[in-house]
Amino acid sequence: MRTVRDIPVYENIPVLVRAALNVPVASHTVVNDYRLRRALPTIQYLTQRGARVILISHIGEQGTETLEPVARALGRLIPYVSFCPDTLGPNARAAIRGLTPGKILVLENLRRNRGERDNTASFARDVAALGDVFVQDSFDTCHRPHASIIGIPAFLPSYAGLLLEEEVQELSRALSPAHPALAVIAGAKFNTKEPVLLRLLGDYDRVFVGGALANDFLKADGQEVGKSLVSIADQEKVKNVLRNPKLLIPVDSRVVDARALKEANMRETARIAAAGQIEPTDVILDHGPGTSALLADHAARAKTILWNGPLGMYEKGFVDATDALARAIASSKAFSIVGGGDTIAAIEKLGLLPRFSFVSTGGGAMLDFLAKGSLPGIDALNR
Ligand code: 3PG
Repeated sequence: MRTVRDIPVYENIPVLVRAALNVPVASHTVVNDYRLRRALPTIQYLTQRGARVILISHIGEQGTETLEPVARALGRLIPYVSFCPDTLGPNARAAIRGLTPGKILVLENLRRNRGERDNTASFARDVAALGDVFVQDSFDTCHRPHASIIGIPAFLPSYAGLLLEEEVQELSRALSPAHPALAVIAGAKFNTKEPVLLRLLGDYDRVFVGGALANDFLKADGQEVGKSLVSIADQEKVKNVLRNPKLLIPVDSRVVDARALKEANMRETARIAAAGQIEPTDVILDHGPGTSALLADHAARAKTILWNGPLGMYEKGFVDATDALARAIASSKAFSIVGGGDTIAAIEKLGLLPRFSFVSTGGGAMLDFLAKGSLPGIDALNR
């Protein structure tokens, strides 16, 4: 993979950098700048060599959000950041002309233009025309077939940024783990997780499924899941994964009666249910302490631990299982890899992020990379 180190000339060159600026914003303020900090090495590598850096990114799913507060937050981490409220057109071109060597310009949210998601050749060509060289550093989006991921490389000499390079190196390492190896995959939607589960069941010694994903497996196991969230999935496929002896599912759950779901004291009314004790009126909120102890035991013995996705209804305050796993991994000697925005935020809250060996900025991208060994955005650079 050609990287930003292979660009032949930097001084005064307009370099278009697809960065991961999709960060959480509330009341027009960035509430977590973790991804921005991870974007800095590539930006600084370029500015220190006199390049004119043009940052492009999406923020939010629908294209309604603005990158303006993100540009402000970035400006607090590095000097000389300006923002243009357009992605294309005369204003964007004028802002780029005014950019002197070593300075940084953030253009507006790519998804404001439908051509980004639809990957239209005209949009990719117009954005590509803003720079002389393209750098892909948004690993988190490399699984999307969008213009800034697979379209632009057809129009410009293209290179991987330092973050993308690191993600590929470290996650490739996770594909040939030192043993014993433990993987923990949570979240929802069995269909999207099935490929990574099948891949990991080949290379890892234990694969634990948590979060809402675990409900699918409890159900396929013939256990009562009450009114818990389950995927619309082919039961035979779930059973096929469940039959693998390496697969681990929760042995107990934190549940609440569905009628108490919206009550303020839901935490107090929740109870621990062992296998066979979940009622048809219950909702599973988190896995229980027995499962956490089992996971801690596997983590203590593992040489590699991979984790993606919070384990319970984290956003509703059911953080026990997630926090217990974060602590277990932090005190293990394993090479540990974690990814997914919510998982990272949860670990960061505990101050344990520095105790992980590698933190991936990708959520879905990390899972796709692990399932397939590459991503469309990486393949586009190599073509
Ligand atoms: C992410 O946060 O997972 C990436 O930035 C991709 O965002 P998307 O799911 O909106 O494509």
